[in-house]
Amino acid sequence: MGRKRYLVTGGAGFVGSHVVAALLDQDADVVVLDNLSLGHSEAVLPGARLVVGELADRRTVDAVLGDGRWDAVFHFASLSLVGESMKDPFRYLLENGMFGIQLVEACVRHRVPRFVLSSTANLFGTPDCIPIDATARIDPSSPYGESKAMIERALHWAGQLHGLNSACLRYFNAAGADAQGRLGEDHDPETHLIPLAIDAVLGRRPPLAIFGDDYETPDGTCIRDYVHVEDLADAHIRVLQPLDHRSVRYNVGTGRGYSVKEILASVSRIAGRPVPSSVAPRRAGDPAILIASSQSLHADTGWLPSYTDLDRLVQTAYAWRERHPYGYGGIAAPKVAIAS
Ligand code: UFG
Repeated sequence: MGRKRYLVTGGAGFVGSHVVAALLDQDADVVVLDNLSLGHSEAVLPGARLVVGELADRRTVDAVLGDGRWDAVFHFASLSLVGESMKDPFRYLLENGMFGIQLVEACVRHRVPRFVLSSTANLFGTPDCIPIDATARIDPSSPYGESKAMIERALHWAGQLHGLNSACLRYFNAAGADAQGRLGEDHDPETHLIPLAIDAVLGRRPPLAIFGDDYETPDGTCIRDYVHVEDLADAHIRVLQPLDHRSVRYNVGTGRGYSVKEILASVSRIAGRPVPSSVAPRRAGDPAILIASSQSLHADTGWLPSYTDLDRLVQTAYAWRERHPYGYGGIAAPKVAIAS
């Protein structure tokens, strides 16, 4: 059979780097294509080869794809901030949507047999029904979600007309960090709840602003489905099986939601002191509740989240952030988060 060979765009980013780690654990030959604008070279584990290049540059993409046979392409390289996409929609539609479609087209030309897309729960906007099934109506609530929907549609036609099998994995809230402590979450700016809450309790950032406590939820704060990044990585490995025969679309979450206040309580338990926080106005575009149904992923691949205990999940993020106060190798103090 020989070693499997995979290209991972955005493999120096948060989810991508954990998927690279999981692929290396399978003894695969892994090449990462990343422009390092948001990713970190330190996040690419030894064993993978890092090519620093732009997805926008067709010659670079052709040179990488033309360099031998590929078993699959994993596509993570992406802007991923919902709020930023509301302010700069065309940047998202062009850089995520158009360059993503260009990559799909190049994969067809280079006869790549399988494509795995890092997609998002934002595809579903404010859903009609919770938990959200993979067959729920697609109605993105932001240009970010729309940009992923564009690539999903391109993949549909690449499958129908060119036989490229694809898996679109719609993540809910990716969280946590590599249990071995090698990898973690390092965004600039950081806008995600768990790392901001950890930094607040460690005194490295201002008190956490709770974006709204008047939602129709038991404690008034938004509920999200936090899925551990290692469980997400495992889902990427498992979808390679059905991809041998057909294209698939799955939602990836735990099926259990936690409110913002429950997350703060968890971080407080782990830190041994309360997270400083105050209630702020709602953030535009935040639905009250987003919880995934990953039943079809489970039925087809046997995937189940291993991090079902919230404190265990938060503990991995806490451990990484405590040991990497300034993220990967940085020496400057973290920038204060921009509320969107
Ligand atoms: N929140 C706060 N204060 C903060 C940051 C977040 O109260 O300082 C709240 C948000 O309002 C939300 C929850 O915490 O209710 C989670 O917010 P995140 O920003 O951590 O995550 P989102 O649910 O907004 O978005 C994430 C990914 C997106 C993806 C989306 C899919 O970041 O890329 O999940 O549901 F599209």
